[in-house]
Amino acid sequence: MPLSEMSRLLPKDRKLRKWVITVLIITFLLVASLMIYSVIQIALHLFRLLFKNLSLFMSTVEGNYTQVNTTIPYENEYVNTGGAMNLTTGVFRAPIAGTYVFNFNAPRYSSDQNVPLCLNVRMDLNNLPVANGPICGYSYEKWTEASLVAVLDLKQNDTVGVYLQQGEIRGDYSVRSNHSHTHFTGFLMYEKSAFHAFRTNDSFASRRNDTVPFHGVNTNVGSNFDLETSTFTAPINGTYYFQFIGSSSTTTDVNLQKNDVELMGYGYTRSMHWGSAGFHSLWQLQEGDKVCTKLAMGKLEEASKESKITNLVGFLVAEEEYDSFNTSVYFHVARTSGLYAGNNNKLVVNYTVVHSNEGDGMNAASGIFKAPQPGIYAFHFTAHKGTGYISPMDSCSTVIQMHNNLTIGVGSNCDMTYSAPIFFHSILHLEIDDEIKMVMTEGDMMGADHYNESARFSGYLIYPDE
Ligand SMILES: *[C@@H]1O[C@H](CO)[C@@H](O)[C@H](O)[C@H]1NC(C)=O
Ligand SMILES: *[C@@H]1O[C@H](CO)[C@@H](O)[C@H](O)[C@H]1NC(C)=O
Ligand SMILES: *[C@@H]1O[C@H](CO)[C@@H](O)[C@H](O)[C@H]1NC(C)=O
Ligand SMILES: *[C@@H]1O[C@H](CO)[C@@H](O)[C@H](O)[C@H]1NC(C)=O
Ligand SMILES: *[C@@H]1O[C@H](CO)[C@@H](O)[C@H](O)[C@H]1NC(C)=O
Ligand SMILES: *[C@@H]1O[C@H](CO)[C@@H](O)[C@H](O)[C@H]1NC(C)=O
Ligand SMILES: *[C@@H]1O[C@H](CO)[C@@H](O)[C@H](O)[C@H]1NC(C)=O
Ligand SMILES: *[C@@H]1O[C@H](CO)[C@@H](O)[C@H](O)[C@H]1NC(C)=O
Ligand SMILES: *[C@@H]1O[C@H](CO)[C@@H](O)[C@H](O)[C@H]1NC(C)=O
Ligand SMILES: *[C@@H]1O[C@H](CO)[C@@H](O)[C@H](O)[C@H]1NC(C)=O
Ligand SMILES: *[C@@H]1O[C@H](CO)[C@@H](O)[C@H](O)[C@H]1NC(C)=O
Ligand SMILES: *[C@@H]1O[C@H](CO)[C@@H](O)[C@H](O)[C@H]1NC(C)=O
Repeated sequence: MPLSEMSRLLPKDRKLRKWVITVLIITFLLVASLMIYSVIQIALHLFRLLFKNLSLFMSTVEGNYTQVNTTIPYENEYVNTGGAMNLTTGVFRAPIAGTYVFNFNAPRYSSDQNVPLCLNVRMDLNNLPVANGPICGYSYEKWTEASLVAVLDLKQNDTVGVYLQQGEIRGDYSVRSNHSHTHFTGFLMYEKSAFHAFRTNDSFASRRNDTVPFHGVNTNVGSNFDLETSTFTAPINGTYYFQFIGSSSTTTDVNLQKNDVELMGYGYTRSMHWGSAGFHSLWQLQEGDKVCTKLAMGKLEEASKESKITNLVGFLVAEEEYDSFNTSVYFHVARTSGLYAGNNNKLVVNYTVVHSNEGDGMNAASGIFKAPQPGIYAFHFTAHKGTGYISPMDSCSTVIQMHNNLTIGVGSNCDMTYSAPIFFHSILHLEIDDEIKMVMTEGDMMGADHYNESARFSGYLIYPDE
């Protein structure tokens, strides 16, 4: 209908005519914005579906692995959507371009005195080093875990693998559990804000709670990490995940701090050799909140410019604003007192502090997470070995993760100097009401004051089932 004809349909009265036109314009704007909103929601939905069918894995090593200068292969997998992770070669090949999150843990072990007392694993991107995770012990049979984390922007067909640079990886632990300690996980994330910063400089020591300086970034989606100040600024209200890995041969405390006042996470090492001061955290931030790592005590080591040992990663897990697909499920709980399992007891780890529990999946008192929605979840656990349990054999402190009645894997520290945290990272597909818990099977866990919260457990839904 031509415009001239349309205008004939409008009332003759000029005032009324103006009014009708205004109403028409407002209606048009409303309909248009609703349509735009729906299109965006549908696009987001398709985007998530696409992710779901693509890329995600969690694989484990079972036997001992001793072949230095090779990429570590795996024997088992829990999830491997799209088959992007090749267990035989140990190499992940990106099926599409995007930002991926990787975690790797393996226990250092030496079969005899001739093997070096250090384990050094290295993450490679297209066969070039990205990050190193060294850990050392002072006794050949005591073991502690090496840890690596990376957030990487990958192009299609880029490859990521973990290389054994030095030492030996202990596979099973046949006395009390035959479950794997070595895990490699990765997933393609919903990219809105993500960073991975690393240090390349000489070791960093501080006496004044200085901000840990970083020298480069592997990834900086949204440019929210400022290298100059080594500070992350939250771009929107939401829930963010952070993980720090650093090594030291002296008593070292590292804090993750919000706006210079609020402690969001804490890691430490108390060792005479290279221990790892790693930890993770999941925190609700408001737009403009500033997050940085502070060295409260001690020193962070660097071996050389090539081995990037100190790494800080962070990314947005959930936006605060209303989510029409109700996909927000996440939790972060912590324990402040120690836990003593002694010789082969089984204690479910429960928690005294609830930082967040969106979706009400986590029951802190029982320590059990029950999936409120089916989908693929990431879980992160960090704790420290205590000093109360001494056994004639090995004084290990061990936690296992259980999915319903199935043991997913093990995290341990068997070094009396409690130099390394007990780590556990997993990526699992859960049905509704599936249960996840951490169980302490031996040894003891270090207590902490309310402020420090050294044992923490967090999880979030990555891709909901549709
Ligand atoms: C591993 O590679 C390094 C550097 O190329 C070399 O010095 C070392 O001898 C190799 N070790 C083994 C066991 O092949
Ligand atoms: C893994 O890689 C090896 C060597 O390239 C190849 O022979 C094998 O078919 C691959 N496995 C899968 C499941 O793609
Ligand atoms: C791994 O090495 C340890 C120590 O040498 C040994 O006791 C154990 O049997 C080995 N495990 C396997 C599966 O070979
Ligand atoms: C990635 O590999 C696939 C299969 O080998 C190939 O079809 C595709 O073109 C490659 N993509 C890029 C960006 O190289
Ligand atoms: C682990 O496996 C070994 C050999 O298969 C077996 O002797 C041992 O009893 C198993 N340990 C546990 C706790 O299942
Ligand atoms: C190394 O770090 C120190 C202090 O963090 C700084 O003064 C120095 O300029 C840095 N050197 C390089 C090469 O970045
Ligand atoms: C972010 O959260 C703060 C505090 O709850 C609120 O005042 C502010 O409006 C929020 N910003 C947005 C963009 O929602
Ligand atoms: C560093 O900060 C922490 C927490 O704010 C405080 O407990 C500690 O005493 C400070 N250390 C120094 C050396 O100022
Ligand atoms: C999302 O959750 C809220 C509160 O739990 C509920 O009121 C709402 O109906 C849900 N929306 C959808 C689309 O399921
Ligand atoms: C944690 O579990 C123990 C029993 O294992 C129980 O005594 C304690 O009250 C629980 N803690 C909380 C905070 O519920
Ligand atoms: C888990 O084990 C308990 C008792 O050990 C049993 O009652 C329950 O049915 C088992 N659950 C599953 C899912 O196998
Ligand atoms: C945190 O714990 C460490 C080790 O137990 C202790 O030295 C430090 O004082 C604690 N920090 C605070 C702020 O309580």
